[in-house]
Amino acid sequence: MYEILNKQILAEDVKRLDVSAPNIAKKIQPGQFVSVSPEEGDEHIPLSIVDTDPQKGVISLIFQEVGLTTGKLGTLPINESIFSILGPLGVPSKIDKKGVVVCVATGVGSAQILPICRAYRKAGNKVIGIIGAKTKRSLLLEAQMRLSCNKLLIATNDGTYERRGLATDILKEIVAQQKINFVYAIGSVDMMQAVCVFTKEKKIKTRVYLNPVMVDCMGMCGSCRVKVGGKILLACIEGPEFDGHKVDFQYFNIRMKAFEELDRWDNQKGLSSPKKSESGILTRFLSGILRK
Ligand SMILES: Cc1cc2nc3c(=O)[nH]c(=O)nc-3n(C[C@H](O)[C@H](O)[C@H](O)COP(=O)(O)OP(=O)(O)OC[C@H]3O[C@@H](n4cnc5c(N)ncnc54)[C@H](O)[C@@H]3O)c2cc1C
Ligand code: FES
Repeated sequence: MYEILNKQILAEDVKRLDVSAPNIAKKIQPGQFVSVSPEEGDEHIPLSIVDTDPQKGVISLIFQEVGLTTGKLGTLPINESIFSILGPLGVPSKIDKKGVVVCVATGVGSAQILPICRAYRKAGNKVIGIIGAKTKRSLLLEAQMRLSCNKLLIATNDGTYERRGLATDILKEIVAQQKINFVYAIGSVDMMQAVCVFTKEKKIKTRVYLNPVMVDCMGMCGSCRVKVGGKILLACIEGPEFDGHKVDFQYFNIRMKAFEELDRWDNQKGLSSPKKSESGILTRFLSGILRK
């Protein structure tokens, strides 16, 4: 049903799949995501929709192969079908006219922020994009971002392309030069936290797109809990976009690291990924419920 119509390798471990999914293509809005299971019996993983063509009924996914399921998805060839895609999921981004909007992204966040940049520009905002990458080879979607933003600035950590440094260095410079009305950030937890600390001090409203570990993506398991404004919220049904100044990043980091520890523990024991088996899903489910 969800036939792969096109496949591209964008970077060493990052792939793009254009997939036939007419019902989702008609309904999905910027900021929403889908839950994807490559083959029958595989776990479902959340992935943002980067592009849509509602007329042709096509959605585009861009993903980094970090583990079992993203790795398996990356092996599916053109003309083969993905077993299951559920969506649209999550709350659509709140897009409105703000003035000058800065969209900051690192890593695969450059793919996730693309529809957000387009939507803010379409709503009449001046959009300044900032992409941060480790090195030139890992830089994603430069051409698409240039087309979607009024201006694009790039930082590479090793200085192999454009500015040497961090995406946050560029943000600080821009804010010193002109009035910025709004900031949107997607990427590593450290980057989003640094952006929010800075923009809070400068009193610039900021929204972030959180990527917690999700198991059911339906609000049932509790694994995607985040703390926002002192309240526990479920990112899969109440996010994944939140007011960055209200997000408790320390809590978020602890929960993300807890899942990494589970993965490491399983690897040390020579077991399959916790998400591979039903017992793994149960472990994640219980840790979602029991962990503060
Ligand atoms: C709303 C949402 C949208 C997302 N959109 C995208 C997207 O468009 N493109 C994309 O590449 N990724 C996206 N992700 C992250 C993606 O879901 C995970 O990378 C994926 O679930 C990993 O599954 P796996 O089985 O391949 O890896 P696993 O074997 O489960 O994990 C491998 C490693 O990745 C880490 N990991 C697992 N899940 C996450 C996560 N959510 N965030 C960070 N690290 C994680 C694990 O701790 C482990 O170290 C999104 C996540 C969310 C919550
Ligand atoms: S993934 Fe959000 S509650 Fe299960």
